[in-house]
Amino acid sequence: MLLIKNCKVLVNGEFLERNILVGDDGKIEKIAASGLKTADDVIDATGKYALPGAIDIHVHFREPGITQKEDFLTGSRAAAAGGVTTILDMPNTKPATTTVALLEEKRKLAAAKCLVNYGLYMGATATNLEEVKKAINIPGVKLYMGSTTGDLVVTDKEMIRKFFHCGRKVVVHAEDEELMKKNSEMFKGQSDPSIHAKIRGNEVAGAAVREAAIIGGNIHITHSSTREEMMLIKAKGLSCDVTPHHLFLMAEELKKQGNYVKMNPPLRSKEDVEALWDAVKDGTVSCIATDHAPHLREEKEQGYWEAPSGVPGVQTMLPLMLDAVNKKRLSLQQLIKLTSENPAAMFGIKNKGKIAAGYDADITLVDMKEEKTIKNDDMLSKCGWTPFDGWKVKGVVAAAVVNGNVICSNGEITNEKVKGKEVIFA
Ligand code: NCD
Ligand code: ZN
Ligand code: ZN
Repeated sequence: MLLIKNCKVLVNGEFLERNILVGDDGKIEKIAASGLKTADDVIDATGKYALPGAIDIHVHFREPGITQKEDFLTGSRAAAAGGVTTILDMPNTKPATTTVALLEEKRKLAAAKCLVNYGLYMGATATNLEEVKKAINIPGVKLYMGSTTGDLVVTDKEMIRKFFHCGRKVVVHAEDEELMKKNSEMFKGQSDPSIHAKIRGNEVAGAAVREAAIIGGNIHITHSSTREEMMLIKAKGLSCDVTPHHLFLMAEELKKQGNYVKMNPPLRSKEDVEALWDAVKDGTVSCIATDHAPHLREEKEQGYWEAPSGVPGVQTMLPLMLDAVNKKRLSLQQLIKLTSENPAAMFGIKNKGKIAAGYDADITLVDMKEEKTIKNDDMLSKCGWTPFDGWKVKGVVAAAVVNGNVICSNGEITNEKVKGKEVIFA
């Protein structure tokens, strides 16, 4: 039994001081202002907010096969330190998660090591539609319309249409392969990392989202990053997520951090960033997802064409977003929707996304007044760096509770014995 005392909890749209009692089954038993029985473990959370644990629907924990960059243990440590209590892991591992058998193997790896709760995507290929249909309990299928890290890509229009209408939710990496290849040719011989934003210019994403919208089906556009995409998504009523790096960094950053901020889709202009923030505020954006894509420093230190695309982000999402709440860029209530409620609702994740009796006790305690500097040295991801090194934020993650177990406190992992559980998709 765990009792979290005196925390602020969202109750019917209002933050009220409450005590949360968690049962031995890892579920929230009762929430009350007073009169709760005490428990073996008590946390005094006076002055802190209790948020429903964040659900990150887009991470790359790299297991199996790419564990020099990350694995389920190190990735989930970073998640817990960042207040993320559930992750949905992407399929571009080695081998890629493209068959039911490979999905079952990944399940075993995650069950043995992942400290937070998890769900596992399958990846679409030109030939595995039937496998995807057979899979049990997956959040959906990831379909890469354009190539990116790994070798999963589906360019055949008819096959894309079949996937979009196969009965699964399809999370779409929307970049147009042909346009991208054409642009690549134009920049051959150049090596300034800034060309990344041009090779994968706004039109590359725009063309793919336009095509995806025409094909229709049960699709979700992930890491959408441009003004045009926001207009299309709003007009067509599509669901989408945006990443923290696209909200907080701009293309100029490529001049300062070089290939470290090379990712797909690339960083954009100030106008795009403003459009993303507007879309976050007006509800066009369904959720914030990190696209946590760790790569090693030595890989990022290579030349432009060799350096892999992707940045880590699962540990820094909430601190950055809490800071944005403090700066009144959005409300704490909106943030809870974007990082917990909506992801749970969109994917039908059972018993998650809310702090309420009967829900799983996945709780992130945050201190909105504390200030902290984000540092490479504090990153628990195997890659050991962040594009936000040196950023001062107000609003920190004080503790992460997963299924009723306190697994992280003040940035330190406090319990590696209990593992997270695979979530259940309705
Ligand atoms: C991702 C990776 O490294 O796996 N890279 C990236 O730049 N976003 C793949 C992806 O999501 O496109
Ligand atoms: Zn992607
Ligand atoms: Zn990704």
